[in-house]
Amino acid sequence: MSTCDNATADEAIRTLRRKYRLTSWFYDILDYPWERQYRRWRPALLAEVRGTVVEAGVGTGRNLRHYPPQATVTAFDLSPGMVRIASKRAKKAACQVSLHCLDATRALSLPSNHFDWYISTFMYCVLPDHLQPLALAEMVRILKPGGRFKLLEMRYSKDPRLLRRQRLFAPFVEKVYGARFDRHTLEHLQAEERSEICATRFLKADTYLLIQGSKKPPPPA
Ligand SMILES: C[S@@+](CC[C@H](N)C(=O)[O-])C[C@H]1O[C@@H](n2cnc3c(N)ncnc32)[C@H](O)[C@@H]1O
Repeated sequence: MSTCDNATADEAIRTLRRKYRLTSWFYDILDYPWERQYRRWRPALLAEVRGTVVEAGVGTGRNLRHYPPQATVTAFDLSPGMVRIASKRAKKAACQVSLHCLDATRALSLPSNHFDWYISTFMYCVLPDHLQPLALAEMVRILKPGGRFKLLEMRYSKDPRLLRRQRLFAPFVEKVYGARFDRHTLEHLQAEERSEICATRFLKADTYLLIQGSKKPPPPA
């Protein structure tokens, strides 16, 4: 699985930003049927998160109120429209939150070896496969050695009935959110040598995959 040159990456990010310029206006309404199940998962996902936390692709900020007070969250998204909505939700968070408009593949302004946690829910299913190694390399760069990550993503099911339903929704999901069920996030992570996967678990059927892991400590000198 290859990465891509700068011009291709720039164009893909511009396309996503354009898409979310429009989608941000309707995101919470369109996503409501799915959010009804996600909102049962978000608190459990974030309950153990402490210290310096970065959330990539924060969207409209649905996770923010579930971080415990012991977390200090730096959250970002590439869409100014999504960040604007998230900033309203940030006011209701129990922890300190700072919001930024940044691209996960080039979050250059975030410091290296700084964060205890990297959280991302449903961003990697939006991010085209050729950009995922770049975003994962940034994740590794900004995490402390031993820092942990949780990525929640969706996948095509092997169950023919579920698969039929996913295929029915796939064109809508791609058109509106830029998201796809056939991204290879787990495989890209397996290829990222500076991190290790500790656990993978489906939250629903074989479709919503939670990937947990950490940045490897540096090898002994
Ligand atoms: C499907 S939404 C999920 C939002 C939120 N994480 C949630 O759980 O509801 C995907 C979000 O990822 C953002 N995104 C996609 N690619 C990104 C990138 N390269 N850098 C930062 N944000 C990105 C989109 O703008 C969008 O807000």
